[in-house]
Amino acid sequence: MTAGDRARDLGLYDLVEPAYSRYQGRMWRRAGCPTPAPSAVKRQVLRSVAREYGLRALIETGTYKADTVRALRKDFDRIVSVELSPELHARALRRTRHQANAELVLGDSALVLTGIVGTLDRPGLFWLDAHYSGGRTSLGDAISPIEAEIDAILSAAVGGHVVVIDDAREFHDSERSGYPAAEAIYSAAHQHGYRVSEEHDAFHLLPG
Ligand SMILES: C[S@@+](CC[C@H](N)C(=O)[O-])C[C@H]1O[C@@H](n2cnc3c(N)ncnc32)[C@H](O)[C@@H]1O
Repeated sequence: MTAGDRARDLGLYDLVEPAYSRYQGRMWRRAGCPTPAPSAVKRQVLRSVAREYGLRALIETGTYKADTVRALRKDFDRIVSVELSPELHARALRRTRHQANAELVLGDSALVLTGIVGTLDRPGLFWLDAHYSGGRTSLGDAISPIEAEIDAILSAAVGGHVVVIDDAREFHDSERSGYPAAEAIYSAAHQHGYRVSEEHDAFHLLPG
């Protein structure tokens, strides 16, 4: 177990996270905003998209260490996060055991997302970040289940969801990375009448 993991288990990471995030953001801007942006900047983007569209539910794919579930706990009424690795899921469950608005799901997001989307009675914000990234992370049937995820969200009975997809650079370099090509994201979004923009290494799929 790393020192960071121990700090997460003890709740110390939650205490220092706001100050650390501000520091990360400052350093990133000072360096000229290189790609990829640090996680603090990505979470700030999620906060502002949620505010702009009035979204109170966050659905994340790829829980990992539950850092986003913890950092955004005060920004949403409901946070659902899906993780494929039983080990990471169990650790995240322990870390969020006192967080009433967190629902952690063990499974492959390509398979379980349809069921989760079906529980939403109003538009939510989706943070699609499930992918294999070495170490303790899990590999599903594909490095990134993005196509099945987009289909599950944009085919749902309730419309108007907003989707933010991390790691745009990997989709733009699919031959090297093994990710689906960026064009697949654009075409899936357009099929459902969504427009796509890109900001800080993320795709934003926006209704209408
Ligand atoms: C980059 S990490 C997620 C980081 C996290 N979203 C955050 O903001 O801190 C990617 C995670 O996705 C998980 N993963 C990989 N494939 C998955 C799948 N098909 N379904 C759900 N989780 C998956 C990996 O095990 C890993 O924990």
